[in-house]
Amino acid sequence: MIKVGVIGGSGYTGGELLRLLSAHSQVELSFVYSRTRAGKPVSSAHPDLLGLTDLRFSGEVQPDVDLVFLCLGHGNSRKFLEEQIFSPETKIIDLSSDFRLKEDCSFNGQPFVYGLPELYKEQIQQASYIANPGCFATAIQLALLPMARMGILTGDVHVNATTGSTGAGVVPSETTHFSWRNNNVSWYKAFTHQHLDEIEESLDNEQTNRGDLLFLPVRGNFSRGIFATAYTRYNGDQDTVVNLFKDYYREAAFTQISEHPVHLKQVVNTNQCHLHVHLGEGVLLVTSVIDNLLKGASGQAVQNMNLMFGFPETKGLNLKASAF
Ligand SMILES: NC(=O)c1ccc[n+]([C@@H]2O[C@H](COP(=O)([O-])OP(=O)(O)OC[C@H]3O[C@@H](n4cnc5c(N)ncnc54)[C@H](OP(=O)(O)O)[C@@H]3O)[C@@H](O)[C@H]2O)c1
Repeated sequence: MIKVGVIGGSGYTGGELLRLLSAHSQVELSFVYSRTRAGKPVSSAHPDLLGLTDLRFSGEVQPDVDLVFLCLGHGNSRKFLEEQIFSPETKIIDLSSDFRLKEDCSFNGQPFVYGLPELYKEQIQQASYIANPGCFATAIQLALLPMARMGILTGDVHVNATTGSTGAGVVPSETTHFSWRNNNVSWYKAFTHQHLDEIEESLDNEQTNRGDLLFLPVRGNFSRGIFATAYTRYNGDQDTVVNLFKDYYREAAFTQISEHPVHLKQVVNTNQCHLHVHLGEGVLLVTSVIDNLLKGASGQAVQNMNLMFGFPETKGLNLKASAF
């Protein structure tokens, strides 16, 4: 058993972590930190946890836990670690973007390892600090990494990815307001989304002489999931590409290659990424679907925890989608 703390536990990724950790047989949940809800039952923010935990939010951390998950917005994780003292033995998994890029990935002289198990499993197993990837970044990297290994990203790559409203966090905004979001579609941050840098860094592992990555993020009319398409010019044959994708993910616990076109609901509420490869006339199209809060955030964080502590990689994560 390991002792675990969750910081920012009243938000969406925090809530998903608590749901997963409360069913994980190797984890004892020691504290759930909240700035604004100290003393209140955790189930007051997450009614779905009623009966699963009697814990109350805490306004203080327990500095000697084995692991803390940071579920804070961009910029707040680094600040939090500067203000709070944890034991040198305490491992950290940060869900924000504060430590994801190589130029900015160390804290107290210790590096954060980028937590994409499909790319860095061995480094994650040895790591004390993990920077959990972004949700769009996860879906898009898993679509593009095998293409980069093939060296075919020499021309421009077009990526269109639609996300559910939970991607924007628990605090309501104009574009997550039900009356606006429902029956509506819109794009945002065209070609400038903040996840582009971490995607590019990972792709550099496989191919450096690449064309441009043109990424258009879209707000979808649903609460969970990311449906991403990526396509580029390619003149080879379908079997070669499909076999290469299968080979690339042969050891991956949660990334599957589907023979059939994929849809979002087949992965929502799971830690899976399902990929489908389609060859049109001179164009290779890869579709990637994930749950933004699971494989895109808290599920991948638990996968990383399992790897760091030597638990089976899939422990607590064998979830079937509620596909209908
Ligand atoms: N949502 C997703 O799909 C997703 C996917 C991948 C990665 N992420 C990343 O994961 C992180 C958390 O996302 P989220 O969607 O869970 O956000 P969220 O729903 O907005 O929750 C963040 C929580 O952080 C706490 N908080 C806010 N400002 C703080 C501060 N200055 N210091 C300490 N605590 C603070 C708040 O809890 P209290 O008020 O109770 O303290 C809040 O509930 C973000 O960096 C996000 O980019 C999110």
